[in-house]
Amino acid sequence: MSVYLPSLRQYHHQAIDSGYLGLVLSFNLCVCVYDMPYEDFMAQIQACPRECHCPNNFPNAVYCDNKGLKTIPQIPPYTWYLYLQNNQIEGVSADALRNATQLRWLNLSRNKITNEGLEEGVLGKLSHLVHLYMDDNLLTSIPSGLPSSLEQLRVSRNRISKIPAGVFSGLDRLNLLDLQGNKLMDDAVTEVSMKGLNNLVQINLAKNQLSSMPLGLPPTTTQLFLDGNNIEKIPAGYFKGLPKVAFLRLNRNKLGSDGIPKNVFNVSSILDLQLSHNQLTEVPLIPSGLEHLHLDHNKIKSKSAEALDGYINDSAPRLRYLRLDGNEIKPPIPRDIIVCFRLLTSIVI
Ligand SMILES: *[C@@H]1O[C@H](CO)[C@@H](O)[C@H](O)[C@H]1NC(C)=O
Ligand SMILES: *[C@@H]1O[C@H](CO)[C@@H](O)[C@H](O)[C@H]1NC(C)=O
Ligand SMILES: *[C@@H]1O[C@H](CO)[C@@H](O)[C@H](O)[C@H]1NC(C)=O
Ligand SMILES: *[C@@H]1O[C@H](CO)[C@@H](O)[C@H](O)[C@H]1NC(C)=O
Repeated sequence: MSVYLPSLRQYHHQAIDSGYLGLVLSFNLCVCVYDMPYEDFMAQIQACPRECHCPNNFPNAVYCDNKGLKTIPQIPPYTWYLYLQNNQIEGVSADALRNATQLRWLNLSRNKITNEGLEEGVLGKLSHLVHLYMDDNLLTSIPSGLPSSLEQLRVSRNRISKIPAGVFSGLDRLNLLDLQGNKLMDDAVTEVSMKGLNNLVQINLAKNQLSSMPLGLPPTTTQLFLDGNNIEKIPAGYFKGLPKVAFLRLNRNKLGSDGIPKNVFNVSSILDLQLSHNQLTEVPLIPSGLEHLHLDHNKIKSKSAEALDGYINDSAPRLRYLRLDGNEIKPPIPRDIIVCFRLLTSIVI
């Protein structure tokens, strides 16, 4: 629990300030203190909606999850963490959140929220919101008017097929965008739609309907997840625009070796390259810093595996983990590979 609670401190590190209400909590092993001005504390506890649970010892959190709610009740003013997941909520009204201007975390996952159900401007008014979770809802498009304070946006498993132009503009702090399990096609992820994500680090576009590599990803991207699409090829020089990419997952696509230009993965930042469950017939040229390589369940033949041996030793001296199982490689030849790797700790053939 303490992971989510930046304002909880170890008791023995914190003297109770006489001007504040000091509440001593005891969790299993952690004795903590919570500080909040007394009047604020009272305002918060008294305004707790009947349907929700507002713990005295953690008054900034309001728990309304798993309550069968169809609408959001009036949320009290000093709420930082609001849990509304696992309900039947169809919309978010400005009225319900009118006083909740200090919200940091909002969990609306597993509800029935549509774009139409989001009252205009309602999210933009939450000027301190850092994490917004709306996984497993009925959104068809990225909601517009998101607050510029946002750092994480999770909207996996909705029905999103559209990313409106400019929807991310001003979201300079957004570092995580989870769009997995939606209905995005190639024309949805473009330079125009992705504009504004100047600090994005992780983007998850797995399990969509992409048939080519997404365009317009910012150069800050470090983790790019594209598993379970229909990608057939990677344009030459694609990763030149992504000089920080380190974790690249392209498992379960339709990549054949002719769809992979010779030098496309020769990017020194790549540490983890996953190409399982594709149609590769050859081992691609790999970058020298590579530590993990997943090539299992392709159509790589013994011959190229033999060639692998000296090649990987020289070109990927840092490789620690290699998967080659589920290919057309016949033992015993590849077993010899093992002795040739300097750092390899695990190999699956
Ligand atoms: C919201 O704020 C208004 C004005 O300060 C107040 O009258 C109302 O009781 C508050 N509602 C809640 C749920 O705190
Ligand atoms: C939000 O709710 C979902 C659905 O129950 C849950 O899986 C997730 O852990 C919650 N996240 C946070 C940060 O509370
Ligand atoms: C990979 O890239 C490095 C640095 O850009 C370059 O020196 C090297 O020749 C390339 N490897 C191959 C096999 O083209
Ligand atoms: C791989 O590197 C090790 C250690 O430098 C060396 O002993 C071995 O002969 C090399 N194997 C091949 C196939 O180049």
